[in-house]
Order: sequence, then structure tokens, then C-alpha cells
Amino acid sequence: MSGYLSVRNLTVALQTGEPILRSVSLNVAAGQVHGLVGESGAGKSMIGKAVLGTLPRALHVISGEIWLDGVDLLKLSPAARRKQIGATAALIPQDPLTALNPSKRIGPQITRRLVDILGWSKQNAQARALELLDEVHIPNPERVMRSYPHELSGGMRQRILIASAFAAEPKLIIADEPTTALDVTVQKQILRLIAEMQSHHGTALLFVTHDLGVVSKVCDSLSVLYAGKVLEEARMHRFFMHPVHPYSAALLAATPTYTNPIDSLLPVSETVIEAVEQEVLEHDIRASR
Ligand SMILES: Nc1ncnc2c1ncn2[C@@H]1O[C@H](COP(=O)(O)OP(=O)(O)OP(=O)(O)O)[C@@H](O)[C@H]1O
Ligand SMILES: [Mg+2]
Repeated sequence: MSGYLSVRNLTVALQTGEPILRSVSLNVAAGQVHGLVGESGAGKSMIGKAVLGTLPRALHVISGEIWLDGVDLLKLSPAARRKQIGATAALIPQDPLTALNPSKRIGPQITRRLVDILGWSKQNAQARALELLDEVHIPNPERVMRSYPHELSGGMRQRILIASAFAAEPKLIIADEPTTALDVTVQKQILRLIAEMQSHHGTALLFVTHDLGVVSKVCDSLSVLYAGKVLEEARMHRFFMHPVHPYSAALLAATPTYTNPIDSLLPVSETVIEAVEQEVLEHDIRASR
């Protein structure tokens, strides 16, 4: 299987040699939504950061390939890589407060990408930004363009970041837990908006979350990650009917769905965790040979 984004055998480690991503392979097909699920610390964000070239300094790519729009990013010079990423991909971040510059008005924060990456005139970028704010259902876009981030609610700020991510018409968007920092009541609206924008623009979307329930609502396929290792990659329907990996099955049994009412949920058992830890250990032994 290959896709618009194709990560192949990607290994990322700390300077000490401690692996963070273990031979990760995953694919996001053009125009499709691929979920990336796993518990906290599994390495979901680091996969997104590896793709977007924003890994923390302490982490290094040891081996592998990251194909984006037919080009292996890891074979490019840093400048060419930044250019390729900027022209094809964008991020919807987790925390809409820290992602916006508190000292700048909203308008320039949206238009910057269009001016910097696509070389648009300020005037055209301004017009496009207004259109985008309208598209993400922000009332009174002119006023919002002149506002500072602290004058807006969390939900409004996340709408702005969504508009901003779609601004330069990227073919891939990575959404890293885009609703976890928001109030529960706003989460559903934002989720619906992302799905609506994705489908309208035909963008490939890598949707990072720890919530399998959310994945079931928005994704076409998914990868299950544990300790930086992909345990299973599957189409959504097959995954929910027949999860192959025991950890996936346990995760499903722990997630409320229509067929899985809250009072029948089972926590992931020690036995399943021990087996998957053993699998990770065996992977590391094979990799070090
Ligand atoms: N700057 C860093 N230096 C060292 N280790 C790091 C750094 N950033 C992340 N890690 C480690 O990388 C691993 C994966 O982290 P990552 O943030 O990708 O997890 P995650 O799956 O996104 O978790 P969450 O659901 O909590 O966001 C963790 O073990 C984390 O401790
Ligand atoms: Mg994360």
C-alpha cells in the first residue's frame, strides 16, 4: 500500500539510542482520512513532527523514508525539504492558544502563509483569509481579522487555525489531537468542521488522537501505535469488524461505541500489555542485530 503520504520503516531515537519510533510504516491516501491512535507517549505527535520536519532537537531520524507527494523528504537538503513541506502540508495543532502569536492580530497570522509560501500579494491574501473565515463559520470575519487571540474563545481560535491550515490548499493536513484542549460542547462542532473542510477540499488528513470513538466517526483507515511501533494498519470497517492485533481488540473493547455500551467496557488487560511489551522488545533485538 502506498499513499500521498507514505512513511516507510521510520526509526527515530534519542541521542542515547533509546528508540522513540520503531520501524514505523503508514500511509495516507490522497483525499482520505487516516487515524493514528495510541495511548499517551506512544509517539503519535513525533510521527507528525517527523513528517513536518519539526522533531525536537533531542530526537534523530535513524533510518527510513518519508514520501510526501512522490518525494522522499529525507533525501532532500534541509532547505528543499522545508519548501516541499510548506507547499504540500500543514498542521492543525492541539492547543489553539499557544499556536497563535498572542501579540499579533489574527489577520496577519492567517495571511502570512499565503504571502510567504505562495507569494501572494497582501491584498489577495487578505481577501482569501476573509473567505476562509467565512468558510469555517466565523461570524463577522472583518472584526475577527483585527482581533488579538486573547479576545476570542478557544473554539473560535481553533476555527482560525483550521482556516489557516487550509489556506494554501495543502494536499495533506496533520491534525494532532485538534479537539482535546477544547470544552466538550465545542469538541463535536470542531470535529464536524474538520470533516466538512476535509471533504470539501479533498485534502488527505492524518488525524492523531487517543480516542478510538473519534476515529470511528471521521476516518477511512487507521494505524494503531504502541511504544512507537505500529501494531496494525487497517481500513476502518475491517478494523471494527475484525481487529487483528490483540491490543487493537482490547482497545476496541475499552471504547464506547453503538455496539459497546459504557457499562460493558473492559480495560486493556495486563496480559495484553505484557504480550505487546514482549513484541516491542523482540523488535528491538531484531533491529539491533
Ligand atoms: N523533546 C523530547 N525529548 C525527549 N523525549 C521526547 C521529547 N518529546 C517527546 N519525547 C518522547 O517521545 C515519546 C513519544 O512522544 P509523543 O509526544 O509523540 O507521544 P504522543 O503519542 O503524542 O502522546 P500524547 O497522546 O500524550 O500527545 C514519549 O516517550 C516522549 O517522552
Ligand atoms: Mg501527542
